[in-house]
Amino acid sequence: MKAILLAGGQGTRLRPLTLHTPKPIVPIFNRPFLTYQIDLIRQIPDITEIILSLNYQPRRIEDVFGDGSSVGVPIRYLVEPAPLGTGGAIKFAEPFLDDTVVVFNGDVLTEIDLGAVIAQHRARKARATIVLTPVENPTAYGLVETDADSNVTRFLEKPKADEITCNTINAGIYALEPETFDRIPKDTNYSIERLYFPSLVERKETFVAYVYRGYWIDIGTPEKYTAVHRDIMDGRFTAPPFDGDASRVVVSPSAKIADGVVLTGPCFIDDEVVIKAGCRVGAHSVIGRGSHLEEGVQVDGSIIWPSTWIGRDAVLKDAIVGRNAHIGRNAQLGASALLGDKTVLTDYTRA
Ligand code: GDD
Ligand code: MG
Repeated sequence: MKAILLAGGQGTRLRPLTLHTPKPIVPIFNRPFLTYQIDLIRQIPDITEIILSLNYQPRRIEDVFGDGSSVGVPIRYLVEPAPLGTGGAIKFAEPFLDDTVVVFNGDVLTEIDLGAVIAQHRARKARATIVLTPVENPTAYGLVETDADSNVTRFLEKPKADEITCNTINAGIYALEPETFDRIPKDTNYSIERLYFPSLVERKETFVAYVYRGYWIDIGTPEKYTAVHRDIMDGRFTAPPFDGDASRVVVSPSAKIADGVVLTGPCFIDDEVVIKAGCRVGAHSVIGRGSHLEEGVQVDGSIIWPSTWIGRDAVLKDAIVGRNAHIGRNAQLGASALLGDKTVLTDYTRA
């Protein structure tokens, strides 16, 4: 059995962070995002290969995962010549599939038991199984209605406010039988959400829902990106480097932290970070590999990517800063600050 990770989106809502780092590999603490999904998929013993379906900056992703030996599962890369949409990308992978395929949107994080999803798919002899999760506002998602036997009766992508009839949405995780891909045209942009799923309903094929009420998040926006870190730090989602152990101060042994620096958990300080005297690092902060905090810097609730330099007495509250940025001294950054890689801020900037 194979799994396809749909990871070709441009991550527009996470710009500027995704200008040089495609969304599937934005760091969550010190690991590329997809590592968390690969860990989940590896738990199904039948999976023999993960197909990474890419088109935006594919080389950067290949450089991270290689042949998959570092993550313990063979990886095949399929790069579309042009974005084919979610359905077109699956069709593009069809020649490499054997039997049932597990498909994952490349931007969701969850603790779902995939073995149970596959077991239900087989027990119901389904042509397609879709995981649903409840959310407060379905408008940003695919709304899915079901009957009493969990058969899908309607799929409506990005419903308008007056079209909302239930709170269960497409969680972006499917088990599909490849023979149903007959309706997807080759080499054509095609949406699995807008065309394929509605067609299963129309043709009355066995299309079954698996409702999951545990942890689930789509990391598509800066708010969600921050929320993922906080959920892991607070133990709402059990994953490295906190592993469910909330409120800890996690500091790499190779970080150099001056005496008297105040670190308030939960926070994460990666390898080779330098934190000079008089700094305070507050709760929910993440300082990426090799970043420098000069004397008197205060960081609170902020996520700093690797190799960034922060000048004396700068204050960062709930900000996100990309790689290799240079924050001048006495700069003050607030909650809406979202700085891309290599940003240079003059001393005393307020943003
Ligand atoms: N290979 C490839 N090619 N991948 C693509 C393409 C493409 O042309 N377009 C999108 N993807 C990937 C994205 O990288 C992402 O991982 C996934 O497909 C879904 O695309 P998004 O752009 O993130 O869609 P969304 O978040 O608006 O909506 C989707 O996810 C929701 C759950 O988070 C839909 O599947 C909704 O129905 C669902 O509720
Ligand atoms: Mg998404």
